[in-house]
Amino acid sequence: STESVRKMPSALTFDRHAKCSTTKARASTLKLPHGEVPLPIFMPVATQASLKGLTYDQLRETGCMLCLNNTYHLGLKPGQAVLDAVGGAHKLQSWDRNLLTDSGGFQMVSLLELATVTEEGVRFLSPHDGSPMLLTPEHSISLQNSIGSDIIMQLDDVIATTSPDHARIKEAMDRSVRWLDRCIAEHKYPERQNLFCIIQGGLDLELRKQCCEEMVARDTPGIAIGGLSGGEAKEEFCKVVDTCTGLLPDNKPRYVMGVGYPEDIVVAVALGADMFDCVWPTRTAVRLLSRQPKPYTDMKQRFGDAIVSSGTLKISHKAYADDFGPVEEGCTCVCCRPTDQGGLGLTRAYMHHITAKETVGAHLLTIHNVHYMLNMMKNIRQAILDDQYPAFLRKFFSDIYGGDK
Ligand code: GUN
Ligand code: ZN
Repeated sequence: STESVRKMPSALTFDRHAKCSTTKARASTLKLPHGEVPLPIFMPVATQASLKGLTYDQLRETGCMLCLNNTYHLGLKPGQAVLDAVGGAHKLQSWDRNLLTDSGGFQMVSLLELATVTEEGVRFLSPHDGSPMLLTPEHSISLQNSIGSDIIMQLDDVIATTSPDHARIKEAMDRSVRWLDRCIAEHKYPERQNLFCIIQGGLDLELRKQCCEEMVARDTPGIAIGGLSGGEAKEEFCKVVDTCTGLLPDNKPRYVMGVGYPEDIVVAVALGADMFDCVWPTRTAVRLLSRQPKPYTDMKQRFGDAIVSSGTLKISHKAYADDFGPVEEGCTCVCCRPTDQGGLGLTRAYMHHITAKETVGAHLLTIHNVHYMLNMMKNIRQAILDDQYPAFLRKFFSDIYGGDK
């Protein structure tokens, strides 16, 4: 059934350097049109073509080589005509490193109550003026071609991870395969933009297996696992990732979408995943700069949270009002680093003082959190290269849950 499917050129190379001898963890390098990305990687999310609270200069300084934009937000504003006129989102934002865009459907379905999915695409009411709109696989790819992102995502049919409706889960999986074919047919620049497929199938391992077979046959340059991070049990999450990575080719990058809690990332890496994104590390820092869309209101962390190796630090708590240590001892981010080492040498007391009142506090916390995530990924990668990943995992969880220090 897949013989007639068009094979796609790719605009990446993927070199594996090491595989852990006891887990499925891999360390590799992904070479994209705007530079090399060491994997495993965490990708910060810059939904509106700006990372909440950070300038691109500050984002650059964290060492970020690949960040996310959202197709639909950019498609609405500045819109396709402006993107075409300026020559894409890299130029628009003056960002010369890599960009990945999500296709937009997931955001519509999760942010807008009135979104409905048909075979044609995702129908919804414009958040700007309430007019009816339709996002098709073709339109999503056309927008992503105008954006010029280094990795573009197929439009997929996303439903709630924990949906009990088996027929609907299967329909969404089958439809996502059909939509991938429409995306492949529409994609104008496969030699400079890498289209990734997205495995769906809910928590049903048989459906995931079927989906992997269909998607892998389409031979996209990279492969994403979608439909997770929706409040499923950790055990189910692990089974799905483990099952999918077991069926995916070794020689392509694997991206688990929407996953960004450090605990989930380190486990998914052990199960063979390479790429992650999540709004949480940036959104959690910024109370003043973001209004909260619905799906995030029940996330376990809210605002003013600093990510540290023992978990999270609620910096707004009065306990930190007279704590003159850095947010995290030994952290090399510009906020925590001592002044005699070129940093700002900021204290928890200062962060506590300004985080609640001043946007600059949110910016600083965002810098710390992005730095934490990228530094964690660096440590993960080094541990895999040294074939010490199980020891890394033991220390990681003992730092969070106690035990010997
Ligand atoms: N972000 C988090 N999960 C998903 C998913 O399943 N599909 C898409 N397109 N984006 C996501
Ligand atoms: Zn720091």
